[in-house]
Amino acid sequence: MAETEVLIIGCGIAGATAALQLARNPRRQITVVTRAPDPHESNTQYAQGGIIGRGLDDDPDILLADILAAGAGVSSPHAARILAEEGPPLLHEVLEESAGVKFDSDSSGQPLWGNEAAHSRRRILHVGDGTGAAIMEGLITALRSCPNITIESNATAVDLITFPHHSRDPLDNYRPIACHGAYMFSRGEHTVHRYLAAATVLATGGLGRIYRNTTNPQGARGDGLAMAHRAGARIVNAEYVQFHPTALAAPGAEGLLISEAVRGEGGILLTPDGRQFMAEYSPEWKDLAPRDVVARAIHHEMETHDYSYVLLDIASRMPADAIRNRFPNIYAQCLKAGLDITKEMIPVVPAAHYFCGGVLVDEWGRASIDNLYAIGEISCTGVHGANRLASTSLLEGLVWGNRAARHVEEALNRSLATKRPGFADVPPWDESGLFAEPDPALIQGDMQTIQNIMWHYVGLVRNAERLSRAIRELRHLWNEIETFYRTTKLADGLIGLRNAIEVALLIAQAAQHNRQSRGCHYRQDSVSVEGDRLI
Ligand code: SIN
Repeated sequence: MAETEVLIIGCGIAGATAALQLARNPRRQITVVTRAPDPHESNTQYAQGGIIGRGLDDDPDILLADILAAGAGVSSPHAARILAEEGPPLLHEVLEESAGVKFDSDSSGQPLWGNEAAHSRRRILHVGDGTGAAIMEGLITALRSCPNITIESNATAVDLITFPHHSRDPLDNYRPIACHGAYMFSRGEHTVHRYLAAATVLATGGLGRIYRNTTNPQGARGDGLAMAHRAGARIVNAEYVQFHPTALAAPGAEGLLISEAVRGEGGILLTPDGRQFMAEYSPEWKDLAPRDVVARAIHHEMETHDYSYVLLDIASRMPADAIRNRFPNIYAQCLKAGLDITKEMIPVVPAAHYFCGGVLVDEWGRASIDNLYAIGEISCTGVHGANRLASTSLLEGLVWGNRAARHVEEALNRSLATKRPGFADVPPWDESGLFAEPDPALIQGDMQTIQNIMWHYVGLVRNAERLSRAIRELRHLWNEIETFYRTTKLADGLIGLRNAIEVALLIAQAAQHNRQSRGCHYRQDSVSVEGDRLI
């Protein structure tokens, strides 16, 4: 049992920023919980390319135009403007000043601006190709120096505590849904604890792991999204799953991200027989076309010619020393997989990378449930629309982490006199009657089934037949998993499986419902806006 003022679930850039900004008020008590034993572990930790700053010949209007163009008409201009205006100054204040992150610069201290797809300016700040890891190192160090922040690791959120659902007072049925914390599973003790909080912030990241091929780490299985959905929060744009064009296709190292920054520095895509193909798909941007365009082009080449990968050439475009300097992690990881990228071309395939939809939030990160906030990849602020512009995700986590913190602070000041539910008002987790031990073979088998269904039927290229097959199979599996969950002792893998099937169905149903191709939601049987013409 724990009682705190602010419960933050997840500690990537969004959760960590929210905690850090809230901690500026020394009276606030903030608890950050992470599923992984090491709080550094998050999607942010693996971000390579970088984060958007304000380049030399850049301004918020130019960045806004790039975000809206990449978003294929689905981005919210209001949210994107907030990001474009507030992001770069906040990056300086929070990441450089508070967290001490040192972005790459030249000998005179000027930033070395990087480039990525669909950016009309060089504006990406980076720390080699390990930008996310450097950011997490700075943020976690800063969090640990705040006496009013408690970090609790190795704890998996099971469900949000919401009223009326968990209330003992029948009159709560007549009040709006409100969140009062979460049930947390201690992976060490194997028990579930109630964490009560005046404000709960979901910052649990993405869901790439529900796909067979992904750049995402183990924990990205849609935990927060599934919890929010079960609690009744509004979820939007779930069909927009972004596929990164270039994940390594080498045995034993599948899914390793080969940053878009490699193409930003001149890398070129070729078919295995040496044909450059991107100009055929995007005469304007070529290899630096928006991500959805490049990913689909690769998919099309692979499918049409039966290739199992395409090649990315940086070796002939950049001196070996420069490659090792700019991309030290990619170089080292590929070398481990037996590939010297200073001499050889890199075999790549697309892989699930980023969830552009999520828990609908407003400009302060507020979800449609009282006292509940969602920030970072789990949320949908509207910035990314149907296709996220490269390197906007870290910035969005930073901006909305900060905004949610500001709103929580004001809300807590306003509601000081309001009585909050205590432990007597919230039932403990009921584990009675659960005797079966979770069978890892069932968990792994079901997870792989979900991943295969999502990859083949709800992947880069969709159509009505694939989607209805996916929904039928996922529904059947949902029933099986629900029975499994209701009769088995809890385990982290079982919690993740239950969440994965929930979000897989959400995505498949949203994709079936939306018959119009836009951005990363591509349907072979797409209809036009008017709804009467095939395109
Ligand atoms: C990359 O480095 O290519 C990924 C960056 C991003 O997802 O924004």
